[in-house]
Amino acid sequence: FAAQAQDKKPNVVVIGTGGTIAGAGASSVNTAAYQSAVVPVDKIIAAVPEISKIANVRGEQIFQIGSESFNNERLIKLGKRVSELLKQGDVDGIVITHGTDTIEETAYFLNLVLKSEKPVVVVGSMRPGTALGADGALNLYDAVLVAGSKEAAGKGTLVVMNDEIHSGRDVTKSNTFKVETFRSPYGPLGYVVENKLSFYRLPARPHTTQTEFDIDQISSLPRVDIVYNYGNVSRTAYDAFVAAGAKAIIHDGTGNGSVAEQIVPVLQEVRSKGVQVIRASRTGSGVVIRNGEQPDDKFDWVVTDDQNAQKARILAELALTRTNDPKELQKIMWKY
Ligand code: DGL
Repeated sequence: FAAQAQDKKPNVVVIGTGGTIAGAGASSVNTAAYQSAVVPVDKIIAAVPEISKIANVRGEQIFQIGSESFNNERLIKLGKRVSELLKQGDVDGIVITHGTDTIEETAYFLNLVLKSEKPVVVVGSMRPGTALGADGALNLYDAVLVAGSKEAAGKGTLVVMNDEIHSGRDVTKSNTFKVETFRSPYGPLGYVVENKLSFYRLPARPHTTQTEFDIDQISSLPRVDIVYNYGNVSRTAYDAFVAAGAKAIIHDGTGNGSVAEQIVPVLQEVRSKGVQVIRASRTGSGVVIRNGEQPDDKFDWVVTDDQNAQKARILAELALTRTNDPKELQKIMWKY
C-alpha cells in the first residue's frame, strides 16, 4: 500500500477463501446450481471497480474451497494470517470472502481470538457473480466500506451481507438459497446503504481484545463433536466420537437440550470417561436452562447459553485450550 500512502482512502486487505462469492454458474439463470470456489480473489475485486473509490484494496488468496470444507487447521491458518495483517501499520481493515455455509463458525471464532480493534468483516454471497440478481458485488462493496470505516472499529468480527451488519457472535445461516439467509436472533447491529453505515446496537458480550483467547498463542484445537438428536436416537454416534478422541460432545438436544431416557446413561458414561458433555438445543434459538431438563449439577454437565450447536462447538474448543474444569467451562459458555 506504500504508493497510496498519501491519499485519505483506507487500506483494506481482501483475503479470499472460496465459496459462492467466488462461484460461477453455467448460465445467468443458475442462481442456486453453480460451481463454488473457482474465481480468484483478484478477479472478484476487479469485478467491482467502484471499490477503488472507497478504499485502497489488495487481495490475498489463502484457500479456494467451499466453506463446508473448513476445518480446525484452516480456521487457525486463517486466524493467524488475519492477526499478522492486523499488526501492520498500513492495514486499516480486513475483508474475508467466504462460503456462506460456515461463515457463522469462522466469524464467531475470529470474534473470540483476534487481538485488534481494527474492523474485520466476513462476507459471502448466495448467488454466483454470473447469475441474474447476483448479490456478491454489492456485498463485497459494502464489506470493504465497513472494513475501512472508523465506526466499525472495536465492534468485534462482523458479517456484512444483504445491506446488514451482523455480529459474528450472533449471526447464523437460516435458509438454503435466499439472499436474506443471514439472521441474528436479536437482529443486525446495523445497516449499510448508499455508502453509509449505521449502527443501532452494540455487541453485549466480550470479543477480540476483551477475551482470554489469542490466536497467536493457539496452534491446535481440541476435538469437539456434535450429536444431533431426534426420536429413536441411539448411543452409536456418542461412542464413535469418544473413541475418536473427542474432548467434549455437544449434545444437540430437542427442545431445551432434552436428553432421551436411553441417552442419559450414555452421557453419564461419556462424562465418566473424562469427556465434557455440553447440552445445546436444536431449536435454533433461546437458551438452554441449567438444571432444567437434566440435573447438570449432579451429572457434572455443561449447558450452552444461546449459542447453537455449531457455535457452541467453536467456543468449547477454545475454552478447552484454557481449562478442563466443567465449572470453568460453564462460566465461559455464559460469558462469550
Ligand atoms: N459451498 C457453499 C459454501 O462454500 C456455497 C454456499 C455459499 O457460499 O453461498 O459455503
